[in-house]
Amino acid sequence: MTQDELKKNVAQAALTYVPEHQIIGVGTGSTANFFIEALATLKAPPYAAVASSEATATRLRAHGIKVVDANTVERLAVYVDGADEIDPQGHMIKGGGGALTREKIVAALADRFICIVDSSKQVSTLGKFPLPVEVIPMARAQIMRQLTALGGQPRWRQGVITDNGNVLIDVAGLEISKPVEMEALITQWPGVVTTGLFAARKADIALVGHPTGVHTQTFA
Ligand code: 5RP
Repeated sequence: MTQDELKKNVAQAALTYVPEHQIIGVGTGSTANFFIEALATLKAPPYAAVASSEATATRLRAHGIKVVDANTVERLAVYVDGADEIDPQGHMIKGGGGALTREKIVAALADRFICIVDSSKQVSTLGKFPLPVEVIPMARAQIMRQLTALGGQPRWRQGVITDNGNVLIDVAGLEISKPVEMEALITQWPGVVTTGLFAARKADIALVGHPTGVHTQTFA
């Protein structure tokens, strides 16, 4: 089974968690794209969606799903998104697609975060995937020095500007055994918009695609 087939299977499995006629949050990336395709096949689709990126908003509309501004909703029943890594507690690294800040905003609105991944994303400790950090452009060099002092090897994702007009730094070489603490630490540095660590608000449920089927993990 290919990785795309595993992603399609988890995207399909996530439909079980989509409430009828409500507003849901939709993530960004190739797995989220499969989820959008699956959503479009529903007989009773959600009323609308809050998108975690411009790319997702465009794709949702192309599939006939109404997109609403995050400012118009107080809560979402569910947020469905992929991840770059997920640990056994449900902490994640996200942002490989550069949408980390809006993903975190939409996740914060949601009662339940359903993470959809193929099994290659499961890790015992986060950090093999370089941690994305969204930074206000004038703070880039300073934040890179601070990330180096933390033991990482930061790399500026040159040529990429986020939907929010900021730059991205990818930090390799971090072994993140305390994700909640590291998220809080980096997030407080002036100039950091957010990190790709989703630890304070982690996944509630992971749907993990294996060749043998979709495994469901629930996190306390
Ligand atoms: C985008 C993300 C994605 O969820 C993450 O990069 C996983 O992507 P994919 O589903 O393509 O493997 O965080 O910012």
